[in-house]
Amino acid sequence: MARTAKRNVVLTSGITALGGLLFGYDTGVVSGALLYLRNDFGGLGSFAQELVTSLLLVGAVAGALIAGRVADRIGRRPAVLITALIFIVGVLLAAFAPLFPVLLVARVVIGLAVGSASMVVPLYIGEAAPPHIRGGLVSMNQLAITIGILVSYLADYGLADTRNWRLMFGLAAIPALLLFVGMIFQKESPHWLIMHGRENEARQVLGRLRYRPGDIDAEIEEVREVGQIPTRGVADLFTKNVRPLLMVGVLLAVFQQITGINTVIYYAPSLLDGAGFGDHAALLANVVNGAVNVAMTLVAIRLLDRVGRRKLLLGGTAGMAIGMFVTAISFTQGSELKGALAVTGVLGLLIYTGSFAIGLGPVFWLIIAEIYPLTIRGAAMSVATIANWAANFVVTISFLTLLNSIGGTGVFFLFGALTLVALAYFAKKVPETKGRSLQQLEQDLTGRAVG
Ligand code: BGC
Repeated sequence: MARTAKRNVVLTSGITALGGLLFGYDTGVVSGALLYLRNDFGGLGSFAQELVTSLLLVGAVAGALIAGRVADRIGRRPAVLITALIFIVGVLLAAFAPLFPVLLVARVVIGLAVGSASMVVPLYIGEAAPPHIRGGLVSMNQLAITIGILVSYLADYGLADTRNWRLMFGLAAIPALLLFVGMIFQKESPHWLIMHGRENEARQVLGRLRYRPGDIDAEIEEVREVGQIPTRGVADLFTKNVRPLLMVGVLLAVFQQITGINTVIYYAPSLLDGAGFGDHAALLANVVNGAVNVAMTLVAIRLLDRVGRRKLLLGGTAGMAIGMFVTAISFTQGSELKGALAVTGVLGLLIYTGSFAIGLGPVFWLIIAEIYPLTIRGAAMSVATIANWAANFVVTISFLTLLNSIGGTGVFFLFGALTLVALAYFAKKVPETKGRSLQQLEQDLTGRAVG
């Protein structure tokens, strides 16, 4: 029984996490694709290139905004299905774009799907998962994001000789199709079903996903009670009990971005190329960085439900600060990294990425799937997710300008300092959520009565 339940729940999480794979692939692929598509459209200037990159982030803000409401109203499963369809449309539009403006539209469409997937996937897995392995299962989404990024680097690298940027974009249609087909065979989230009075269906779904059948009735009872707490919709987000939790989600989101992860994920090749590595070595170092990201996320998945979210978050964030300071020091002799400084520069970036992957990377998406009351979970996750994409947009669009004006040392010291501020905030405000059911967490964190 326990083994079948575990297999079912891992399979459900794995299929849904294909949404994370697409998130990672579509955000990562553009760096390599740009090198070739800029010539095909008659020599794009840097602004046009920035648009191709950042319009995805704008679409993602909108996608996160819409997806929460859709997931609360018509269900988590249809929300994932619609997301998969939008992915397919966007990716094919990008791959076959006859004109540059069509490519821009395609990037916005892909962004809608990425933003939606980024919140609906942890939401759905979080509700399907039994409490004692929820951390690892929800973080399969983060693992899929990192694998998606790594695969996109490899696809860019592997297709570089063919200069086929259309195929670089188009390959994402395969996981998008798999997500759509896989999701057809999945069931609606049990918690959403209970909240909408469909308890018999919920009981069947839980029967497949829970290790001890005896616990199912208690879970239905608890979820029914929290689901019946009267809600005033979006206004509930700002009540005395929920507001502090909203703040935690939004600040985790903003800190996840303003501590610099995507300047490394999106720009490391250009940075290292500019530091005198040559494009081959720069791309290789980038692939190694992507692999460290995947490997350390795997470590996080093993540890989250054992040592807890807080220890990993705090340890990881401290490691990120160290990595940033090592990188900053490596740039003190100028933007060319020579000899030992080239080694410490790359080492600093690897320490930084590995530390992000074991803490702030997975923990942000996990915590926002755990701390909000059921009746407004989708809406609250939307707010945190929007904050994440908006902060990502601001950092991504300003990074190169910042680098030119204050140099590598200045930028990386700045990120290091912001990371220390983040660390102090996390230590003070982020709650431990390990092992407790979502209903218990709702009671403990918002003081609402359950059972
Ligand atoms: C972040 C992304 C980032 C990725 C890197 C995710 O948790 O939200 O912005 O690109 O991690 O692995």
